[in-house]
Amino acid sequence: MSNYIWQKSETSEVDQRVMRFLAGDDVVLDRELLPFDIRASQAHARGLARIGVLDDEQADAMVAAMDALLAALESGEFVLDERFEDGHSAIESWLIDELGEIGGRIHAGRSRNDQVAVALRLYMKDRLGLLADACASVARVCLDRAERESDWPLPGHTHLQQAMPSSLGLWWAGHAEAFIDNLDLANSISAWLDACPLGTASGFGVNFPLDRDGVAEELEFARLVVNPQYAQNSRGKAELRALDALASATGDVRRLAWDLSLFASQEFGFVRIPAAFCTGSSIMPNKVNPDTVELLRSMHAIVIGARSELDAVLSLPSGYQRDLQDTKPPLLRAFTRALAGLEILPDLLTGLDWQTERMRTAITPELHATDRANELVQQGQSFRQAYRQAASELESLADRMPEQSLAARGSPGGCANLLIERLRKRL
Ligand code: ARG
Repeated sequence: MSNYIWQKSETSEVDQRVMRFLAGDDVVLDRELLPFDIRASQAHARGLARIGVLDDEQADAMVAAMDALLAALESGEFVLDERFEDGHSAIESWLIDELGEIGGRIHAGRSRNDQVAVALRLYMKDRLGLLADACASVARVCLDRAERESDWPLPGHTHLQQAMPSSLGLWWAGHAEAFIDNLDLANSISAWLDACPLGTASGFGVNFPLDRDGVAEELEFARLVVNPQYAQNSRGKAELRALDALASATGDVRRLAWDLSLFASQEFGFVRIPAAFCTGSSIMPNKVNPDTVELLRSMHAIVIGARSELDAVLSLPSGYQRDLQDTKPPLLRAFTRALAGLEILPDLLTGLDWQTERMRTAITPELHATDRANELVQQGQSFRQAYRQAASELESLADRMPEQSLAARGSPGGCANLLIERLRKRL
């Protein structure tokens, strides 16, 4: 493109190598942001009409032209590519192509600085919503299976050493509660960043009485980012919090994936991962590999890497700096990757095939020692005495059944009292 929206005259000089460097991956990344940018631009046009900067007809024409752009984008008829500097210029140039001089009126009272900030807030609210939905789906599968499999014995480990008889129910309910917490966090962070920066322009306000509240309401924001300087200074800060919510979930996916990859190993042999989530080896004909579980585990590394990349960019003075453009790639990369993983996780969990006999026989008699010590306590011994006695009589535990151990574990949250209903209520 030979014309940039910021060019003062057609003849002013532009070095294409420099332009390519400045654009970075913007046109590619802005493909994802464009629908949000369009929505915000439509609200902006209506807002300008409310204060008489546009007349109603002009605003209606703009809104309709942007609807057409959105449709062309969805059908593939319009592609955001190197003809444009970024998504923002693409909207303006589409409007000018469609409406002539009227199109050039869209940028009154705004800057690309608040334009990108509002698109990103809308994007984050949308993606945090998807994150919350995904966490809810994962939690639901975990709770359902916890209920159905509450009595199935599973050796419990600490330090990766066998510790006590536990149950599949307790394992599932533990992961369920993690994702209920993550769902909660996604929602609270979404509420925390639910503020509209549009109408702060380049970071100093404008000399029009913009209807900022009306625009924010139309865009379904809960409030304004009031201060124009802070609208820019909070760019990246909001993104960091969004990645915190994402990392909370991917961190728990990592743990769950770790459990599964251990349990699926021949040494444990507790579970089979559904075939659709496995691959084979290119050389070893005998192999079935749980690749999906492993890439679910490494998702967290991508999110954490993106988070620190983003944090590093934010070493900036107040106001808009072009560096802020570099907060987009880590944000989009992390959400795209992690949501793709979280969305397949419920099916993987639903398809897990537990090897119950193997799990049960892995519980050897000495795992009942803690139960024994607690029984002696109930008979009146001090715990320390009971601990020593149980340790000295491990052979007396030989004929204990895991089922009895689980049935007696009635403390709230314990194997016989998982409090699934309480978790379900929170969900
Ligand atoms: N691509 C830019 C960004 O993400 C858009 C804003 C450009 N603003 C400017 N003053 N050059 O930050």
